[in-house]
Amino acid sequence: MSKAHKKLEKNINLMSIWIVVAVSIAGLVELLPLIAQDRIIEPAEGIEPYPALQLAGRDIYVREGCYVCHSQQVRPFRSETERYGPYSVAGESVYDRPFQWGSKRTGPDLHRVGGRYSDDWHRIHLIDPRDVVPESNMPGYPWLMEATVDGEDIANRMRWLQKVGDPYTDEQIASAAADVEGKTEMDALIAYLQDLGTTRTGR
Ligand code: HEC
Repeated sequence: MSKAHKKLEKNINLMSIWIVVAVSIAGLVELLPLIAQDRIIEPAEGIEPYPALQLAGRDIYVREGCYVCHSQQVRPFRSETERYGPYSVAGESVYDRPFQWGSKRTGPDLHRVGGRYSDDWHRIHLIDPRDVVPESNMPGYPWLMEATVDGEDIANRMRWLQKVGDPYTDEQIASAAADVEGKTEMDALIAYLQDLGTTRTGR
């Protein structure tokens, strides 16, 4: 071991500084290209901020922990694209805060599920998955039929998203409460699922 190396390993302060330097360099190498590339930070063609009802559905998706079993990221491999459809690109997730890419697939990937089933199929499946897929081990979410979406809450959420840069118009925010009036959480979640990934599947 060289003298300098010995000194570094025996001096905790010096060692700490070097660890910070090494980790920062490694971090920047990963981060800087991402910050600089338009392809990644600009919305992909046809991608818009979520309309009020879908935004409510997305929040329910996050609240219920659907991401624990479902990814939303079709990888660029043939085995994936043949099963799910076009692979996911970063520009599709620019309005997802936080993104729902996930890493665990107990169930299938959901990024291209929009338009694959009818609304009725989703409703029955979400109340009790075994009614349509007998071998399913997905839990049921029957309470989504009972609760209604809080319009004021969604309007506030859109206002906040507008502040961080999502291009919501003031009219969209003003009509948010009316847009979700009387809708159940089930309606909202299904609206969200039915739109997932459709800008690239064309469904
Ligand atoms: C414990 C794991 C688990 C959780 C949590 C879970 N799922 Fe699933 N999901 C599965 C499994 C397994 C399947 C495949 C069997 C089936 O279709 O029921 C599935 C299938 C699906 C499908 C059909 C996908 C396809 O392409 O056929 C949809 C849609 C879906 N889940 C939505 C949801 C939503 C929305 C939530 C949250 C409210 C959720 N899942 C929570 C495990 C889970």
